Amino acid sequence: MDLYEYQARDLFEKYEVPVLAGIIADTPEEAKAAAEKIGGVVVVKAQVKVGGRGKAGGVKVAKTPDEAYEAAQAILGLDIKGHIVKRVMIAGGARIAKEFYFSVLLDRANRSYLSLTSFEGGMEIEQLAVERPDALARIEVDPAAGIDLAKATEIAEAANFPAELVGKVAPVFVKLYDVYTGEDATLVEVNPLVLTEEGDIIALDGKVSLDDNAEFRHANHPLLEDKAAADPLEAKAKELDLNYVKLDGSVGIIGNGAGLVMSTLDVVAYAGERHGDVKPANFLDIGGGASAEVMANGLGIILGDPQVKSVFVNVFGGITACDQVAKGIVGALAELGAAADKPIVVRLDGNNVVEGRRILEEAAHPLVTLAENMDQGADKAAELANA
Ligand SMILES: Nc1ncnc2c1ncn2[C@@H]1O[C@H](COP(=O)(O)OP(=O)(O)O)[C@@H](O)[C@H]1O
Ligand SMILES: [Mg+2]
Repeated sequence: MDLYEYQARDLFEKYEVPVLAGIIADTPEEAKAAAEKIGGVVVVKAQVKVGGRGKAGGVKVAKTPDEAYEAAQAILGLDIKGHIVKRVMIAGGARIAKEFYFSVLLDRANRSYLSLTSFEGGMEIEQLAVERPDALARIEVDPAAGIDLAKATEIAEAANFPAELVGKVAPVFVKLYDVYTGEDATLVEVNPLVLTEEGDIIALDGKVSLDDNAEFRHANHPLLEDKAAADPLEAKAKELDLNYVKLDGSVGIIGNGAGLVMSTLDVVAYAGERHGDVKPANFLDIGGGASAEVMANGLGIILGDPQVKSVFVNVFGGITACDQVAKGIVGALAELGAAADKPIVVRLDGNNVVEGRRILEEAAHPLVTLAENMDQGADKAAELANA
């Protein structure tokens, strides 16, 4: 789960990372009140989960509470790369002398952590990595050792911080690493980390991604979720404990096992090239040992997606028995009644396939077609989606 900047700011504060005051506001009136409370020059910042807010007009300096009102009025409702701004943060205004970049992230490819740090901040990191690769220090962080003061010093020196600043930024790197491990994050990024005219180091922007698999260790993490912004189908699937990801296409996909579902997506996309370029509408893995109920829940979610024109159920029975899958399909269709109005192509193979096919043949539901194999099923589902 990615956090909003204000949520990252709050976590930073909890771990004693130096930040400025920040108050969220959903209306210009609230923004004005927040600016009065903070006092002095403030910055009104769009709270959307996308970078480049500054360039898009989502970050504005306000010298007075009235200016904060106007800035909030201009920013609320703004469309930043497809994200509509519903909330702003009023932050204390920093007098910036220099901007830096710091991040620590999970490096899956190397099964390690990685710190990316630069003395040259203020630029998009992707651009910096391309244009000035030598200005970006990539330092591996051993998860067992973490970032202590010695490691933080090594990072600051590798990133070309001058000697007089190394001692100032290194303790901040240590605290940011505390956020990373303490909250089970997969990314903590500060862009920019700044040196102020007063000589202080402050995290002015924060991007934090939390590891959803560690949620059971953090009672506060579910509260950070923006339920209103979540895709309603994904939210419902999460409630039902289904591994579901919404995609852009029109062929609903259900399979068992992540590997099989991934290949089903490929095969359907490939078949789709022959049928008006239709594409998969989702990823849904009902897992090994799926019961009839799980199948029914999955089918319910997919048939509830207005973008779906056809469904392809691709199950290879291992621990999952095909008769259970068939019962789930029949049960779901009975339960959904007239709400089920999309053709469903079913490919079953493996454990108890004969019984599974018998159940479906006996039910003879007008929407269900049995496929001989995966390729044929994908082709039929793509054809139906394009009909
Ligand atoms: N509290 C602040 N005080 C002063 N300047 C700020 C403050 N917050 C952001 N800025 C300036 O605005 C720029 C963009 O803000 P930032 O929070 O990094 O948003 P984004 O990365 O989405 O563009 C920063 O690089 C910094 O120069
Ligand atoms: Mg930024």
